[in-house]
Formats: sequence, C-alpha cells, structure tokens
Amino acid sequence: MKKLAISMVLAMFCLTISASLAGAADKTVGFSQVDNQNPWRLAETESVKSEAEKRGYKLKYSDGQAVQANQIAAVRDFIAQGVDGIILAPKTSTGWEPVLKEAKEANIPVVLVDRDIEAPKDLVVTFIGSDFVLEGEMIAKMMIADLGEGPLRVAELQGQPGADPTIDRKKGFENIINKYPKIEITMSQTGEFNRTQGKQVMEAFLQAAGDEIDVVYAHNDDMAIGAIQAIKEAGKMPGKDIYVASIDGVRDAFVAMKAGELNICVECTPLMGPSAFDALEAAWAGKELPDWIVNEDGAYRAADVTQEVLDSRKY
Ligand code: AHR
Repeated sequence: MKKLAISMVLAMFCLTISASLAGAADKTVGFSQVDNQNPWRLAETESVKSEAEKRGYKLKYSDGQAVQANQIAAVRDFIAQGVDGIILAPKTSTGWEPVLKEAKEANIPVVLVDRDIEAPKDLVVTFIGSDFVLEGEMIAKMMIADLGEGPLRVAELQGQPGADPTIDRKKGFENIINKYPKIEITMSQTGEFNRTQGKQVMEAFLQAAGDEIDVVYAHNDDMAIGAIQAIKEAGKMPGKDIYVASIDGVRDAFVAMKAGELNICVECTPLMGPSAFDALEAAWAGKELPDWIVNEDGAYRAADVTQEVLDSRKY
C-alpha cells in the first residue's frame, strides 16, 4: 500500500515536470544583441543563452555587429519565424517604433534589456537595465571626493553615439560637475565602447595635450583599459599621473584597479538572462510589469579590490 502511494506520488511528480518542460520546449525566443565587441556584452549574451537552456527554451540568437539595421532585420526575421517572445538589447535609443509595432500586431512580447529606447511604453513588456544617469553621477561624486573641486581637466571617452548609456552617463556626470566651475570636460570623443578605439582616441588626446589631462572618464571599462594602455605607452602612470574612472565592473577592470591603474569603477550588471525570461513568462501569463525594472549596481575604488573581491566577480 505504502509502495503504491510512493509510486503514485512519483508518477505525478514526473508528469508535472515533463508537462512544464514540454511547455518550455514548445517556446522559441529570439535574442537580438547589439554586438559582442567587449567582455560585458559577451557576459550578457552568455547570461541569456545559459538561462534559455536552463529553462528549456529554444533560442534564436542574432549578433547585430553594432549596426542597428542588422538588429531591425533580425527582429523582423524573428517575427516572420513566429517566435513566442523577443529579447532586444537595442543599439540606439531611436528608430524602433515600426518594427516593435509589427511585433505587437503579431502578438509577440518584446523585452528590452540593458538599453532603453524612445517609443511608446505599450510596445514593450518592460525595460530591464541600470540607471545610467545615476552611474555618471556616482563617478563624478567619487572623483570629486578623491580629487577635490578642481581645477580638473577631464578627457571623456564616450560610448556609441545615440545609445542610451552614452547619453545618460554623460548627462549624469555633467549634472554633478556643472556645480563646480573649475571642473571641465576639455576633450570628448566616442571610443565606441571598445578597447581598440578607446586606445586610439586616448592616443590622440595625449598627443594633442598630454600634460593637460587630469582625469579620464570612460563610459565603459573596455575603453578605459585601452586608455590605460595608451597612457603607459606615452610614458605616464595611469592611476597616478592621470586619474582613470569607468563603468561596467568587468573582471579586467578589477585587475586594473588591483594594479592601481584604474582608480574607480561603477558596476553595471550584464547578467540579465534570468530577469529577461521572468519578464517574458510574466507577459505570456498576461501579467503587467513596471515600465522599468532597475538593476542595482555597486561602486568600487582601487583600494577596495582585494584578491577575494577579484575572485568573487561573476563577469
Ligand atoms: O548598454 C550597456 C553598455 O553597453 C556597457 O557599458 C558596455 O560595455 C556595452 O557595450
């Protein structure tokens, strides 16, 4: 009798598990990624891919190679293939409305990850990402706490033009420094969020006015790491002769902080796979979500980075 009851419970358990797996296995999700040109993006891609696998969804993946038109074509292709949901990491903030309307007409929920866009809120399920204005403000406040109220000449390495983090990280930084007349951005150019271009732009800055740069503010770690290389090649000491600040919190940034070459770093998590699939599942269940699910991020100074902190980094 006892044996029969146990086998019945086991059978029901197996049925429930296979039913829920069958549900997941039936669903296909399209993921349109901006590019994969830095470790942050690779970590985000991996987070989405591994979470799809964990939950038993089929994932169609497209790398936009930093071209918005490629991403729009990928989303159209996902719609034509009749996917059940779309995760979109958009390159720029504008230009998405027509394709998002097509997804809505096809009844396919779209979840935005990491960058927000300018479009009516009802076209997407939600936006999951960090507060980029706050990140820029945090960098400026930490820099002022470390270096004082100026005079300070800041060389800024901007991210991809027209991208939400580029616009807002600049805005946040300026919100704070504009209160200090002796702190100014004396040079500012895009390094496209990658190491090679970050290094090239920094080389040009150093050639133009190497002795007149007190701070490098890079909109992401990878450009800061390129800039650090350029500073060293110019015979200066990053972290000492020139204060270096950046955003993301990738492992290489922690290595640079431990070496004293990067002074401060504000985190911006790329690990959005779990929350992106939670959002799609909520949409499929007909649940409403807030317009913005805000990721909480930390901030670090070089002195905080022990081997233990470095070893604990997940990306
Ligand atoms: O949208 C987030 C930004 O985009 C990250 O800071 C950067 O590394 C990425 O490419």
